[in-house]
This record gives sequence, C-alpha cells and structure tokens, in this order.
Amino acid sequence: MAAAAGGDLERLLAHQLAYYRAVAPEYESHAIPGAWGGEPEAALDAFAPAGEVLELACGQGMWTAKLLRHAHTVTALDASAEMLAIAANRVRDERVMFVLADVFEWEAERRYDVVFFGFWLSHVPLARFAEFWSRVESWLKPGGRVFFVDDAHRTADELIYGENSPIVQRRLSDGTTHRIFKVPHRPEELERRLRELGWAIKVRASADEPFSWGSGGRA
Ligand SMILES: C[S@@+](CC[C@H](N)C(=O)[O-])C[C@H]1O[C@@H](n2cnc3c(N)ncnc32)[C@H](O)[C@@H]1O
Repeated sequence: MAAAAGGDLERLLAHQLAYYRAVAPEYESHAIPGAWGGEPEAALDAFAPAGEVLELACGQGMWTAKLLRHAHTVTALDASAEMLAIAANRVRDERVMFVLADVFEWEAERRYDVVFFGFWLSHVPLARFAEFWSRVESWLKPGGRVFFVDDAHRTADELIYGENSPIVQRRLSDGTTHRIFKVPHRPEELERRLRELGWAIKVRASADEPFSWGSGGRA
C-alpha cells in the first residue's frame, strides 16, 4: 500500500485517531527521548507565541504549558477525550480552554495570533495537506504566525509497507497493532510545499536530534 485514497484515507484517519485514544495511558513511554525540550523548545521560546494561541492536536498538553510562558490564552484542541483528560490534569490554568474536536472538521468562532502544533503535521496525509493548511489560514488573524515541531523518525519494524509508504504500524504494550500516517517530511521539501500554498515558513532541523521545527506565516 503506497498511499491511501478515498474511503481508505478516511478509514485510516479514523484508525489513527483510535490509536491515539488507545495509546493515551502509555503515550510518554512511546516518545522519542527529548521530544518536548531541547532545541525545538528553545526555538519556540525565541519565536515567543504571544497573544491568543490555538494549539492543534495538543495531546497531553506537553507543549500547552510551554505556550503559556508567552500566550495570553491557549485554545488547545484534540480529537481524543483520553488525551484531553490527561492534559487538563497536567495543565491547570484558567488561560487554557480545551476543545474536543477533529482538526479536519472544527469551525472556529474566532481567529488567533498564533497557530501551533507539536508532532502533528507528520500525521496529516499529503492528500489532506493543502486542506489542512487552508484551515490553518482560516484560523489565523491577518499577519498571524505559525509554529510547529515534528520529527521524521520511523523505525524499520514500523515500515510494514516499505520506506516509500506514508503509513506505518505502531504497537501498543498489549501487542495490538495500529496503522497510522507518518509522513517523513524533509525541511527543504516541506518549505517548498508550503511556498506553493502561499506560506513563507522556514523549517530548521536540530543538530543532534531527529527533530525539526517551522515558523512563519502567509507569504
Ligand atoms: C503525536 S500526538 C501529539 C500530541 C502533542 N502535540 C505532543 O506533542 O505530545 C498526535 C495527537 O493528535 C491527536 N489527533 C489525532 N487525530 C486527530 C484529529 N483528526 N483531530 C485532532 N486531533 C487529532 C491525537 O489524539 C494525539 O493527541
């Protein structure tokens, strides 16, 4: 399976969400060491996500707490109630509003100064890439800014359809397997894709870790 199309794609997105709902209790044990710190965190601080911030796919709130160092408010959205429950317990701050919603369906009632997403973009299939970024644009105020952190890390045993497939298989501690999207973006190629959609976003990679981050806005 090199790519997923049509109904397959929708089914896989639903599987992907089911995986994240199931992995919530053991999420931290699956993380790449250093995922929520190091150079990406320093870059986020330098970017200074001030004002009204929208965080997509917030998960357990690892980045939410960091956004609050700069933000006036954070609207933190995720489609997994299990993830949000852990995030709400971790981040107890009246400046945060948690929203249970699907990124591909949510309609915002307002616009934001900054849209942030951590370890999410690589889970957006390329067939939904342009739609996703057009949604991001619709949530930004004029002149608004974007910051994202991600990784392209895929282990050999995950690549059940081979290196050229965007689909990998993840395994939970109970042995169950789940297929999700994991698109291994490369910085230059990602910048080019975004430029073609009218974004001016600089993507940088960390020196000694498998992380990258992007920041910018509409061109
Ligand atoms: C790799 S985790 C990243 C979580 C968090 N940002 C972090 O850095 O730890 C991906 C997150 O996307 C969420 N998610 C999956 N599908 C989604 C969708 N369609 N809409 C919103 N969130 C979704 C999952 O529940 C999960 O919390």
